[in-house]
Amino acid sequence: MELAHISDEEFDSHYPLKIRKVSGTQWTPISVVKKAIAYLGVDEQSILDIGSGAGKFCLIAGALVNSKIIGIEKKESLVKLSQKLMVEFGLKNVSFIHGDIKELDFSQFDHFYFFNAFEENVNLNDRLDRDLTIDPEYHQIMIDWLNQKFDEAPKGTKIVTYCGDCREIPDSYSLVKSSNRGKLRFWVKRD
Ligand SMILES: C[S@@+](CC[C@H](N)C(=O)[O-])C[C@H]1O[C@@H](n2cnc3c(N)ncnc32)[C@H](O)[C@@H]1O
Repeated sequence: MELAHISDEEFDSHYPLKIRKVSGTQWTPISVVKKAIAYLGVDEQSILDIGSGAGKFCLIAGALVNSKIIGIEKKESLVKLSQKLMVEFGLKNVSFIHGDIKELDFSQFDHFYFFNAFEENVNLNDRLDRDLTIDPEYHQIMIDWLNQKFDEAPKGTKIVTYCGDCREIPDSYSLVKSSNRGKLRFWVKRD
């Protein structure tokens, strides 16, 4: 399977129906993965996808560049699905961690991709987890926590954000460019 040239429809057909049905809102479109990884993946360093879901960003990105691509996801079933596809596609530079992002040591990673992972706490549309409830306070805690982590990262750290209002990006970062009508933003740590 040539992942570098696969269409969204073809890629999504590898997912069970329940996962495929939410692809339009929950998983990064391939055209967006290509733009994000062209920015993040130039120096073959490690890239963390924060909330890797069903693995779409990591799997496509891993097929496009030699960087180490790591996804962390709190839903175990999605991690297992991602790992199954990673083996099927023969990707050696991709790995998935099951866990909460709050438990992870950010200093292990060079650059980051963030597709609005905490939105599920304030918007229940297309939710995969029936137990989720609206929790704006927790949402704010997570945004503030991530902002702090990004602020502690070294100068030159790159982040790509997709969707959301980017309140997780500290003032110490500059917006390098944006795309997709401002939904896709490319950041770098200035100091
Ligand atoms: C919008 S999806 C994006 C999936 C993937 N990054 C992609 O682009 O294909 C966000 C994911 O973040 C996960 N998530 C939310 N909060 C998390 C947390 N605290 N730790 C780990 N994963 C989390 C959700 O379970 C969901 O699968």
